[in-house]
Amino acid sequence: MADTTLMDKLVSLCKRRGFVFQSSEIYGGLGSVWDYGPLGVELKKNIKERWWRAMVHARDDIEGLDAAILMHPKVWEASGHVAGFTDPLVDCRTCKARFRADKVADAQCPQKPSKHPGEHSTCELTEPRLFNLMFKTFMGPMAESASVVYLRPETAQGIYVNYLNVLNSSRQRVPFGIAQIGKAFRNEITPGNFIFRTREFEQMEMQFFVKPGTDEEWFERWRGLRMAWHHELGLTPAKLRWHAHGDGELAHYAKAAYDIEYEFPFGWQEIEGIHNRTDFDLGRHQEHSGKKLEYFDQAANERYLPYVVETSAGADRVTLTVLADAYREEEVEGEIRVVLGFHPAVAPIKAAVLPLVKKDGMPELALELYHDLRRHLPMFYDDSGAIGRRYRRMDEAGTPFCFTIDGQTATDRTVTVRHRDTMSQERIGLDQILTWLLERSAG
Ligand code: GAP
Repeated sequence: MADTTLMDKLVSLCKRRGFVFQSSEIYGGLGSVWDYGPLGVELKKNIKERWWRAMVHARDDIEGLDAAILMHPKVWEASGHVAGFTDPLVDCRTCKARFRADKVADAQCPQKPSKHPGEHSTCELTEPRLFNLMFKTFMGPMAESASVVYLRPETAQGIYVNYLNVLNSSRQRVPFGIAQIGKAFRNEITPGNFIFRTREFEQMEMQFFVKPGTDEEWFERWRGLRMAWHHELGLTPAKLRWHAHGDGELAHYAKAAYDIEYEFPFGWQEIEGIHNRTDFDLGRHQEHSGKKLEYFDQAANERYLPYVVETSAGADRVTLTVLADAYREEEVEGEIRVVLGFHPAVAPIKAAVLPLVKKDGMPELALELYHDLRRHLPMFYDDSGAIGRRYRRMDEAGTPFCFTIDGQTATDRTVTVRHRDTMSQERIGLDQILTWLLERSAG
C-alpha cells in the first residue's frame, strides 16, 4: 500500500532542510520541475561522482563523454523517437483535462465528487491520440519546421553518434564502453511522486560496445555490477529487486531488458534499466547518416557492427531512492528523532564541529578545527542552541558525525565524536580527526 504520509514527510523535510524546492515556487511553481537546494545539490553530486568513479575512473575499458543536449534533428528520426516516443492520450471536452489512455482507470477526474475520467455523466472523452514526449524548440531566429530541434529525451544517442570519435581518439578496442551524465527532457503526461518522474532530469548512462555473440554474457555481467553498485550505495537489499521485461514490455530496440526496482513508499518502481540493444542504434545511425560505423577487429581481420549493452539510471531517481531509504523516525526520551541515515560517502555534510558552550575558549578551538577540516571535506559549524538540539539538526541533515569541543579539549587535546546512527559517543585526539574522518567518508 502506498505510504503517502511518509512521502509527504520526506517532501516537507526536503524543503525545510534545503534538499529540494519546487521550481519557480514564488510564481506558483512549474509542474514536475524541481530545484536542488544547498544540501540536495551536494547529495546528488556525491551520487553522480560515485557513479562516475565506478564506471569511468575505476575501469580501463570505459571512457567518459559530455555531449550537447541539442543534436541534429535527424538523430531523433534515426533513433525512432520522432515516430515512436509517444504516449496515447485522451482529452475530456468538458473539463479540458488530459489523461494517458492506458492509465484512465488510475486517473482522477478533476470534477467533484472524486471519480475516474469518463465516470461523470458530463464527461466527454475523445478517442486516444498519440502525443510525442519530446520537447521541441527552434534553432536560430526563425520558428519554422526547417529549424526544429529537440531537447534530448535520453543521453544515450549522444554516445552512439560519438562512438567512432571516442574509438579513434582513445586506445580502446571492442569491448569497451562510453559513459555520460547529463540532462534529459520528457514532456511526461503523468509525472509525479516528487522527483521520481519529472520533465527535466539527469541520466547516468553507459553504452558498452561488444562483439555480437558475446552480448548475452556481457549483459549478465553488467546486471551483476549494477545491482552491486546500488547495494554499495547503502540501500536496503530487501528493497531492491529485478523486473524482467516480458514480450509486451520490451522496447522496440531491445533483445532483453531488466529493471532494477526499489520499494518506494508509493510501491515498487524502476530506478535503473539494463538493456541489450543489439546493433539497433548503430545500425540506424549508419543507415540514416550514410557513414560506416563498423568496427574493424585487426586481430581477427573481421568487420562488424558492435552490439550494445546499456545501463541507464536516473540521477534524480537514485537521489530520491537514497533519501527514501535513509529516512527514519525514532522515539528518543519521549521525542521523535528524524534521521537521514545516509552512507557517509554520499552525505552532503561529512561532519559538524560544535563548541559545547559559547565561552571558555571553546568557540575559538572549534572554529580552528572547522577551518582546518573544511579544506578537505564539506563541514558545518554550529554554536547556536542546546547541544541536543544541534545534534538533532545534524541528524535531519544526514550528517554522520559531530565533533564536540568541551572543557576537556583545551587540556588533553581530545574531542567527543557523536555518531548519528547509534548516538554513541567516544573521544579521539584532535590530531587524528582528519584521518579518522577521511577513512569513514571514502566510498
Ligand atoms: N536510454 C534508455 C532510457 O532512457 P528509460 O528506461 O526511458 O531508458 C532510464 O530511462 C532511466 O532514466 C530510468 O530508469 C529512470 O531512472 C530515469 N528516468 C526516465 N524517465 C524519467 C523521468 N521522467 N524522470 C526522472 N527520471 C527518469
